[in-house]
Amino acid sequence: MIHSAIVPVAGHGTRLLPATKSQPKEMLAVARKPIVQYVVEELVANGISQVLFVTGRNKSSIENHFDSDPELTSVLKAGNKSDLLAEIDFDELEAHFFYTRQRFQLGLGDAVACGENFAGEQPVVVALGDSILGINAQSKAISRMVQLFEEKRASCVIAVEEVPHDQVRHYGVVDVTENSDGSLRITRLVEKPKPEEAPSNLAIAGRYVFSPLIFDMIRRVRPDKRSEIQLTDAIQMLCEEGKRVLALKLRPDEKRYDIGNFPSYFETFVEFALADPLYGAEFRHTLERMLAKVE
Ligand code: G1P
Repeated sequence: MIHSAIVPVAGHGTRLLPATKSQPKEMLAVARKPIVQYVVEELVANGISQVLFVTGRNKSSIENHFDSDPELTSVLKAGNKSDLLAEIDFDELEAHFFYTRQRFQLGLGDAVACGENFAGEQPVVVALGDSILGINAQSKAISRMVQLFEEKRASCVIAVEEVPHDQVRHYGVVDVTENSDGSLRITRLVEKPKPEEAPSNLAIAGRYVFSPLIFDMIRRVRPDKRSEIQLTDAIQMLCEEGKRVLALKLRPDEKRYDIGNFPSYFETFVEFALADPLYGAEFRHTLERMLAKVE
């Protein structure tokens, strides 16, 4: 079992400006909850009880969100709003939250390295704070990744998903060979390749399991053209050292919602709103009416 997860949330969210001018992209609402709440719910459902957020300037609303708010609680109590109270009672989640700041924007590898002391000598999950796995975050991929990590004594397991070939430039992309037991060994990784240079169409999907070795590798990575330390380059080093780096393909019902740009944010919002148990059916009628007018 792995109990700890690092959730990097320090990025500027420039692709979502102006919505992210003064609020973190991870706090944008998808239907009724901020993105990062889905991420935490997914982690807890997969056995994680300690979550370290790697934050940055302008990210304090994430801490506020998971904190208790006695004033709001008493207002809701006085108004007999027990259903709303239950929805903001994060003590129920039984997770402990920790926060540290990435002081300079030096890339995802550097953000993960901020969690080294938190992880200690134990394996750790890394879950990107702007990606949700499965509708309403109902994915058990992390549990399967942890199982694979332990069974195969891997140094790293990465969730991957097939993406259209013209999309590979947005992601880290992996080359794999199939082991005799059907597991997928990663032999090479390229961060945001041009389509003609991509080793496959298997994109890194924002969930990782690492042994503590990853921190040594991150220290050795040279910054890229934009002075960023890429996590993908550190994983490539694990491969070059002959360590076992495995991929786990997400299942079709574990679609990854990547809230890094507006088209996918809009799509995610609509899909989650349609699936909302309370408002979904009504919203579907509204949407159908709107679309009928447009066509
Ligand atoms: C990061 C990783 C990339 C991965 C992606 C998933 O990129 O560097 O390998 O495929 O997340 O969302 P970013 O989206 O932070 O540019």
